[in-house]
Amino acid sequence: MSPTRPSDVLVIGGGIIGLVTAWRAAQRGLRAAVLDPEPGGGAAQVAAGMLAAVTELHHGEQTLLGLNLASARRYPDFVAELGEVTGHDVGYRRCGTLAVALDADDRAHLRELHALQRRSGLESEWLSGRECRRLEPMLAPGVRGGLRVDGDHQVDPRRLAAALLVACERAGVVLHHAWAERLEVAGGRATGVHARGGTFFAAEQVVLAAGSLSGRLAGVPDAVRPPVRPVKGQVLRLTVPAPYAPFLSRTVRAVVRGSHVYLVPRANGELVVGATSEEQGWDTVVTAGGVYELLRDAHELVPGITELPLTETRAGLRPGSPDNAPLLGPTGLDGLLLATGHYRNGVLLTPVTGDVLAHALTSGELPEEARPFTPRRFGAVSLLEQVV
Ligand code: GLY
Repeated sequence: MSPTRPSDVLVIGGGIIGLVTAWRAAQRGLRAAVLDPEPGGGAAQVAAGMLAAVTELHHGEQTLLGLNLASARRYPDFVAELGEVTGHDVGYRRCGTLAVALDADDRAHLRELHALQRRSGLESEWLSGRECRRLEPMLAPGVRGGLRVDGDHQVDPRRLAAALLVACERAGVVLHHAWAERLEVAGGRATGVHARGGTFFAAEQVVLAAGSLSGRLAGVPDAVRPPVRPVKGQVLRLTVPAPYAPFLSRTVRAVVRGSHVYLVPRANGELVVGATSEEQGWDTVVTAGGVYELLRDAHELVPGITELPLTETRAGLRPGSPDNAPLLGPTGLDGLLLATGHYRNGVLLTPVTGDVLAHALTSGELPEEARPFTPRRFGAVSLLEQVV
């Protein structure tokens, strides 16, 4: 398809959310294209890939929990289908998670989380410190208890992005390597996107799936501009040499002095340690302070990590939304849909987002499970408040 021929769907943003949207749309017979200077990049290149619907449950997020669980349930079939289509293994590990407490405050916090999980009908088991160490012998002797959550797994987001890119190519999705500069609106509907350099890409429907950048596209009317903001996360990667394996057998996490820290062990020896959460605008600098805090907190949980080679430090931007939930589906502007604002749950919500957007693109409506996440829940007034 040449850039002058309109596509049925043009997805702005080639991160995992944009790619899954384009892939699912193409599978439904739509001529889909993705506009991104580096498709397959974005926050997935930094994310640890925890599928943590249960351990990342927060008060007031029960509606989001439903969508998170729906997506977690889809993961086994999703990765199997991606594997069949592409031959890629995306590192989906049914490893479970252990959330531990180091002091009385942490333990009280975890007890609260446990009670909330039970009220929400979720499975988790309270363990003593000794039971935690029996499961994970590398844990510090000071661990005072923990929550075992066997249903929270992991995937490797970099491998997921690479597989989705191949799946898109095999499904006939056209990849335009360019920056989106301005949405074109004509006759009261979105009609395409002007790219940097001057090319215009016409489309019947445009999906804005540009992660934390989604609120910045010129030409989007204020009333439908997504209220997303960047939330910086610094993440470290260490390598467990073969004689140490298995260093940890499941994801281990905790809240240490109010900050979340998690250690995600991959089957290939990579150990991902994350993540800071910083409201600092577009800054993606890795700071000595961020690295220090992550290593200090991770070391309190698992003292042996200081022996490991530190192989990578990186920062990414989560697309935060006002209620921490994604914005999915049609907006108040005909022809413009959103798939953004996934905040802490972009990797987890990838399968359900693809299904929801494909449904919306072909029917004009959101499926039942996604109705609470309509972008229309944010009225024009609050949209304006968010972007000033
Ligand atoms: N879900 C993990 C994070 O956002 O850091």
